[in-house]
Amino acid sequence: MQLLDGKKTSDDIKNEIAEVVSKMKAKGEKVPHLAAVIVGNDGASLTYVGSKVKACERVGFESTLIKLPSTISEIELLKKIEELNQDDNIDGFIVQLPLPKQIDDQKVIMAIDPSKDVDGFHPENFGKMALDMSTFIPATPFGILELLERYNVQTEGKHTVVIGRSHIVGRPMSILMGRKGFPGNSTVTLTHSHTKNISQITTQADIIITALGVPNYLKAEMIKDDAVVIDVGITRVPDETTEKGYRITGDVDFENVSKKASFITPVPGGVGPMTIAMLLKNTLLAREQRRL
Ligand code: GUN
Repeated sequence: MQLLDGKKTSDDIKNEIAEVVSKMKAKGEKVPHLAAVIVGNDGASLTYVGSKVKACERVGFESTLIKLPSTISEIELLKKIEELNQDDNIDGFIVQLPLPKQIDDQKVIMAIDPSKDVDGFHPENFGKMALDMSTFIPATPFGILELLERYNVQTEGKHTVVIGRSHIVGRPMSILMGRKGFPGNSTVTLTHSHTKNISQITTQADIIITALGVPNYLKAEMIKDDAVVIDVGITRVPDETTEKGYRITGDVDFENVSKKASFITPVPGGVGPMTIAMLLKNTLLAREQRRL
């Protein structure tokens, strides 16, 4: 079994980006500027956004964190987005999901200027991704592709099973793994809450990508020998023995599945850090495209 080390790989990517940024600075060019909008006080979301801002500092990007109250109206949020669209100083921005229930996620995503949509969630960018056109690829799927590529995990002709059809991970992942090229050229099955006999499908998989948010869901009996296992789950489970009172748990029963898998991502330290590195990569791309 080989660990797909997202922490180390994301550090490598951040170092590569930092090098590009220092060259930009040396030439007197404007460095990339990412803005992140967070609505409300959800602890996990605040942590994720905080990590994104910290990662900007680390590579030499500028960043702006915009905290808005959970009671904000949809109209007010859309106004803020329009400001960010118009702000020439901002190269790319994200609106952290989920949003409070009075706000329609899709309306918000549609309001983002596609050229600044570094999450790749806008239908224009999502459509381009599905059509193999150059665009922003959603950061988590992009991070998984990057891990597979850098560890040279073979995907061609393999059967990839994706568990979960979220717009952020499962759905785009299922499209990307079936695209032409590497990593891709894979035969994809997208499973979800209405899938019957899921074990019958997962035991046929060469590559399993779980993005479900159910701790220890994927058991050793559900995979075949030497499967590649990518765990996108990040659930906070109460744990009094830790300082924070919780620990982060993936979708995979790591202890047992890792004995059977050929490659596996740990949680934490697998897909999570890759998401942040790829958001930075998209922001760099946004800056470069705006310069043209
Ligand atoms: N919530 C969970 N993952 C993400 C992400 O990648 N981007 C945004 N904007 N919100 C999220």
